[in-house]
Amino acid sequence: MLELNNVGASIGIIPILRNLDVTVGAAETVALIGRNGAGKTTFLRSIMGFTTVTGSIRFEGEDITGLLPAKRPGLGIGYAPEDRRLFSAFTVEENILLPAQVAKLDATETKRRLDRVYDILPELKTMAGRPAGNVSGGQGKMVALGRALMLGTRLVMLDEPFQGLAPALALRYAEALKALRDADRTVTLIITESNPSLLRGFAGRTLLIERGEVSESSLEHERTH
Ligand SMILES: Nc1ncnc2c1ncn2[C@@H]1O[C@H](COP(=O)(O)OP(=O)(O)OP(=O)(O)O)[C@@H](O)[C@H]1O
Ligand SMILES: [Mg+2]
Repeated sequence: MLELNNVGASIGIIPILRNLDVTVGAAETVALIGRNGAGKTTFLRSIMGFTTVTGSIRFEGEDITGLLPAKRPGLGIGYAPEDRRLFSAFTVEENILLPAQVAKLDATETKRRLDRVYDILPELKTMAGRPAGNVSGGQGKMVALGRALMLGTRLVMLDEPFQGLAPALALRYAEALKALRDADRTVTLIITESNPSLLRGFAGRTLLIERGEVSESSLEHERTH
């Protein structure tokens, strides 16, 4: 579903990623593991179209290398950046609905997707009316996940979602990801982490990223789906 051929990515004139040949199949859960500064965020941002890319990126058979970033969420790609970037004056629900408005989904489809988000993350329904500025950091991560799920019908990319989560919330977050897997067996997940143990037993496959280069991990992870 996602195919990177000899991809290089630069920020400005600085090359960050090199020689990426990565193929991710539909319904896979992939962990992308690397230290600080290895290029995890740049990898995800490159798929979103926010860097200067050489080589080619194909998504569900279509070449998206030169596609405008604004057109990508419409393909069914949801992205939760490292920093949550919630609009604090808007309510939790308004934050979740925002991508649907940007993507100009009609009311029926928006409602259908919002219901899906609340099925997977019922706690968001109880917080729906609260200003996003009033939720804790950990809860904010849940809101950011819900927001990514609004457009992520084919591919969901989460950038270090467990970073800074208290253990109880990390457990809850992992449960929500399992609920997503159970609710939708076709969606593809790419999750970055610096700590590989957090995704052990959940990701079907692990990619390692080091100094802008990606390699397949030889450690086989148990499939949970
Ligand atoms: N805006 C920028 N301008 C120049 N270099 C940058 C910029 N953003 C990131 N880099 C560099 O690109 C490299 C990869 O950064 P990136 O943020 O992708 O790593 P990361 O794996 O996500 O790290 P972290 O674990 O800290 O989030 C680093 O060497 C970083 O210094
Ligand atoms: Mg990062």
